[in-house]
Amino acid sequence: MHIDVQPSPRAVAREAARLIADAVADRPSLAIALPTGQTPLPLYRELIVSYAQSKIDFSQVSFFNLDEFVGLGHTHAASYHAFLKHHLLDPLGIRANQIFTIRGDARDSVAEAARYEQAIAKRGGIDIAVLGIGANGHIGFNEPARHLHPRTHLLTLAPATRRANAWLFGDRLRDVPRQAISMGVATILSARGVLLIATGAAKAPIVHRAIQGPVTTSVPASLVQLHPDAIVLLDKAAASRL
Ligand code: GLP
Repeated sequence: MHIDVQPSPRAVAREAARLIADAVADRPSLAIALPTGQTPLPLYRELIVSYAQSKIDFSQVSFFNLDEFVGLGHTHAASYHAFLKHHLLDPLGIRANQIFTIRGDARDSVAEAARYEQAIAKRGGIDIAVLGIGANGHIGFNEPARHLHPRTHLLTLAPATRRANAWLFGDRLRDVPRQAISMGVATILSARGVLLIATGAAKAPIVHRAIQGPVTTSVPASLVQLHPDAIVLLDKAAASRL
């Protein structure tokens, strides 16, 4: 695991965008898994700026979302699909056939999880999994638990995770779905490269546990320690407990 501490969130975004741009330049038909949340927003802005300057050609890249709320269709404003479209994919001009996302409103969530896992396999797996980290150590929506699911699956969200996502629902906690579908930890860790980003002092304690603590299912992000080609990009504040 390579740990890179940058002076600011902006510098983290720039470095992450540079790594992604280099990877796409090397192999234009990459499959990239993307997180939602506040942390990747500066990265997405950076990618949009770089694209506008024609530094990166995304026309052959496939984009996968890591997770999705159950019950929300693609057009629901709080869906992760809509989030990625709004903050990255539409500004980049990504075509529909390049976008692979989980259908939160599928009638059968278990079947949808299996379909998504197959879609990832059909595409040859994920090349780069870009990850954020939840304050409880989750990656995607893989919540701390005694047992983690290896592949894409239906799950119940932790109360803290629902609270952390309430901002997407106008701070109305009751509107935050109780279930989600997420890529599993094996799906994520099977990616050829993993890029975990964390910024801000609030993430410092969990970053410390994930990176310097034992590998444990109680901190799903700690499993990233096992990946042979993982990069952890932190700003000074998130790295302050290391
Ligand atoms: C959500 C997502 C995660 C993300 C996490 C952290 O729960 N499912 O993929 O990493 O939020 O979000 P933030 O970056 O806003 O702290």
